[in-house]
Amino acid sequence: MPFLSIVNVSKRFGDIVALEDVTLDINEGEIIGLLGENGSGKSTLAKIIYGVYVPDKGHVTLYKDGIPQHVFFTSPRDAIKHGIVMISQRPQLVEEISAVDNITLFLGVSPHIARKIVESTLNRFNIELNLEKTVNTLSYTEKQFVELVKALSYKPKLLIVDEATTYLPKDVRVRFYEVLKMFTSLGGSVLFVTHKIPEALVVCDRIAVLRKGKLVGLFSKGEGVSIDVVRKAMFSEISRRVQPSKAVEGFYGKSSEILRFEDLVVLDDYGRKAVDGASLSVSKGLIVAVIGIAGNGQRELCEGLAGLRKAVGGKIILDNEDITFLGAAERISKGLHYIPEDPFRDGVVLDLTIAENLRLFHKGRISGEIIAKVLEDLKVYPLNPELKVYKLSGGNVQKISIARLRLSKPKCTVVYNPTRMLDETSSNLVKSMLRDLASNNVGVLLVSEDIDEVLDVADEIAVISRGKIVKSFIATEPSIREEIEKAMTLYA
Ligand SMILES: Nc1ncnc2c1ncn2[C@@H]1O[C@H](COP(=O)(O)OP(=O)(O)O)[C@@H](O)[C@H]1O
Ligand SMILES: [Mg+2]
Repeated sequence: MPFLSIVNVSKRFGDIVALEDVTLDINEGEIIGLLGENGSGKSTLAKIIYGVYVPDKGHVTLYKDGIPQHVFFTSPRDAIKHGIVMISQRPQLVEEISAVDNITLFLGVSPHIARKIVESTLNRFNIELNLEKTVNTLSYTEKQFVELVKALSYKPKLLIVDEATTYLPKDVRVRFYEVLKMFTSLGGSVLFVTHKIPEALVVCDRIAVLRKGKLVGLFSKGEGVSIDVVRKAMFSEISRRVQPSKAVEGFYGKSSEILRFEDLVVLDDYGRKAVDGASLSVSKGLIVAVIGIAGNGQRELCEGLAGLRKAVGGKIILDNEDITFLGAAERISKGLHYIPEDPFRDGVVLDLTIAENLRLFHKGRISGEIIAKVLEDLKVYPLNPELKVYKLSGGNVQKISIARLRLSKPKCTVVYNPTRMLDETSSNLVKSMLRDLASNNVGVLLVSEDIDEVLDVADEIAVISRGKIVKSFIATEPSIREEIEKAMTLYA
């Protein structure tokens, strides 16, 4: 019997179709997997169920004693009232108070009653966890378990797990799954969102697959479902590493440094140190990636380097020159360019045409032919240089802002989550462009929250956690993924 039905749900963000006509039941007592590659719409669907977004079309139906009721959640508070709780990749805890106080706040009961509830949750699910410690002393793994205990203590009917286990160490993941299974055996439902197929095959009773916002497959356990079957549904074409890395030991070390930051401190919008003493060096001709769980200072690092946020400590050196106190425009003219995550926000000038945008930071003349060639190479559509940029879709705008780099020949570029808004074909194109820039001796600093993107193109990989670079790797050994994931969560 379904607990909840998603019925003909569609959701767009501007030109991006995040979900298109998705219909799916979540049954009582099942773990249903929601799979899809990055950008396929998983989190959007999860957030619609959780009341973060309202769908453009369609609705969510809840079944109370078998009787369907349309619900229109306009906030997570509404969803929580109806027994739906979500945990995601990033812990949503108040850092300065204890774990148990966090849970007390969430449950909205007296501390005395909260303690009793929490104790019974720990017993029921056989979880060992010290909840008296202040959250900011806990490891990432511990925090995710606090989130789990917090959610379960509420006695939800549906638990949405959006990539919350993706970065946990393997043995801990197994423990987490055991708890989810116990929860469903007691009648609860789990929507398990992941892009990892093996994980889903172990955990889920059924697997739903999204591709570009559409539900393209629904599989039940034991009906011949395998990694291959799910992978075929997830990807229109099997994606590969864009190009082999050239960070062989010989190359590494010989190349000269183009960008360096030292003990950099940059504040977030609330005045907290989002970048807190980070240091890293980028060499000409290499793609250096900074990877971390979302919210560990990536945005502030990028904006600090681009001159959109002040550095309140440390220094930034571009080609042997201290640029720490230069403004954004001066940094561009010195050869440091920035491609933001959201190209509509600061990537392009929307009221200018494609051609005008491409000429914007270019010192000499650029002929119409060159522009036509660039647009063709990048498969920008429509192929009309005189079109105003605001008429293009997000993916095409992102391509324009990267195309500009190719023409303006910077010394170094900082790129933030460049493929987040793109489909697979455009993503691969952008990744080859980054590779192309590096082979033209540009230093590329790729700041990303997507480990697959990073493993695809980077020559060196640095891990950012709580605003510090905590570890770095040369992208040669195939086994680095696990080590990187470990470093990402160690202090997060
Ligand atoms: N708040 C938003 N504003 C604009 N675009 C968004 C927003 N949230 C998601 N998107 C876009 O919608 C698509 C689906 O994103 P998402 O649901 O986060 O995918 P997934 O969780 O599968 O990686 C992507 O193209 C993404 O860039
Ligand atoms: Mg997601």
